[in-house]
Amino acid sequence: MPVQDVAIGIDLGTTNSSIAVCYKDGRVVVIPNDQTGSRLTPSYVAFDEGTHTVGERAKESPHENAKNTIFQMKRIIGRKYGDAEVVRNKELWPFQLRCGEDGHTPMVVINDLDEEMLLSPVAISALVLKSLKSSAEAFLGQPIDQVVITVPARFTDAQRKATKEAGAQAGLNVIGMINEPTAAAIGYEIEGNESQTFLVFDFGGGTLDVSVLQSTEQSSFRVLATEGDMELGGADFDNKLLRHYIDRFREQHGINLREQPPALARLRLMCEKVKNNLSGRSDSYLASLAYITGAINFKERTTRTEFEIITDQLFQRMLNPVKSALRAAGKDKSDMDFVLLVGGCSRIPKVRQTLEAFFVDVPIKCDAFTDEAIAMGAAVYARSVMQKLAGLPSKYKVFDITPFTLGVGVAQGKVVPLIAKGTPIPVQERKPFTTQRRDQASAMVRIYEGESELSAENRLVGVVHLSDLQTGPGDQPHIVITFAYDESGVLNVTATERENETGITLSLH
Ligand SMILES: Nc1ncnc2c1ncn2[C@@H]1O[C@H](COP(=O)(O)OP(=O)(O)OP(=O)(O)O)[C@@H](O)[C@H]1O
Ligand SMILES: [Mg+2]
Repeated sequence: MPVQDVAIGIDLGTTNSSIAVCYKDGRVVVIPNDQTGSRLTPSYVAFDEGTHTVGERAKESPHENAKNTIFQMKRIIGRKYGDAEVVRNKELWPFQLRCGEDGHTPMVVINDLDEEMLLSPVAISALVLKSLKSSAEAFLGQPIDQVVITVPARFTDAQRKATKEAGAQAGLNVIGMINEPTAAAIGYEIEGNESQTFLVFDFGGGTLDVSVLQSTEQSSFRVLATEGDMELGGADFDNKLLRHYIDRFREQHGINLREQPPALARLRLMCEKVKNNLSGRSDSYLASLAYITGAINFKERTTRTEFEIITDQLFQRMLNPVKSALRAAGKDKSDMDFVLLVGGCSRIPKVRQTLEAFFVDVPIKCDAFTDEAIAMGAAVYARSVMQKLAGLPSKYKVFDITPFTLGVGVAQGKVVPLIAKGTPIPVQERKPFTTQRRDQASAMVRIYEGESELSAENRLVGVVHLSDLQTGPGDQPHIVITFAYDESGVLNVTATERENETGITLSLH
């Protein structure tokens, strides 16, 4: 099979997305949005008058249309309606969520042209991906098909599968997924003959990802540990400010802006602006919104010190994954040759100061193209995957690891681990299991993700029903369960009956 001329990488972000191409000669270009010329496309979709817009235009869509302007879907993709993260986010979103008919998918409610439409986070993410695809096709003058999409290192199996599904719905063939910190390392072209050990601190809009990596030989990356905080990103700084302003406004005017979606939408965008401006030279910013509600204007001056006090809790949390990643890698902070700081939040002065104070003498690399390194790394990785698929040697070798322990639920609410957290991937593990009772013809296998011995404290990845089992004494280990974890971090489970060796591939939903 001939290798295509272009390899495409997509950084599908919580706030901004970007798409990059890696040409055959190794050149990498971040593709500008075909409408705005910007290399970043806000991950926003707005529905209006029977049609939809994506990106900058959607982000700037009229505030009266706040209920139909959807963003931050990455925070809930692959999650269940009742999950704490979904509940926490939806409280401050101007659009509505409702539980889907399947009883667990959070669905976004769109009301347009007097009609109600329910769309899943996957479907909305697919619209963002479609828009990136069409920008890339216009830029390259050719259709694109095979892509690599990046995901936070701590994305669960369900979140990875949902991301892949979004790609498929956008008409893309997702040939691989790569963890964002790993992609950032490749994007920065960290290579050399000597072995280097470094920590990637990727602080984006939705999540904080931390990985300790080693570049062992030229163009080879080995991930030693990966940790993160899935509930810590730029959006949380915005939310802290938002809550602060809502409280101030209520104190002053006795009005709850939470109940007014257009006001809430305007205030949220203002919070992002305040935060970003306070990363610059000015040490205070005057937030002002005319007629935020009725004839009342919103006006608040916030200093950088106030901002740092309001968001102090978040700064305190940001070192936790750094410490656990170093511990899991068996390294000390002084063993790091450097720290690579990427993601939009790396521009917040206190983020950098906090890292500098912690790492002391370790150099911190961070530059203007912090927003683009992940998409660029994904495109370079896509080139490697395509070469591998075509049976050719590839330049980059990436050895990533599993972010969680994966296991099977057994009697007494316990979990038997099959693949431990931190195992290099791809990996395959098999284990024989018994049925619990004599002559048991069917069984239910529950698959869990997480570090507890108890199933109730882990995440349920999926349930598999086995039927028509050979009956016999219950204590014979006759079901062999195989977990195959691929390079994209996606789990496939197979069960085989030892007697007849018939394989059943189990789909997990
Ligand atoms: N100058 C700045 N100061 C502070 N924050 C900034 C600045 N510029 C951008 N940001 C914030 O960075 C975040 C976006 O960063 P980035 O583009 O890396 O995230 P993302 O890729 O969308 O999210 P994730 O990787 O978590 O899915 C937003 O919250 C944005 O407001
Ligand atoms: Mg990102």
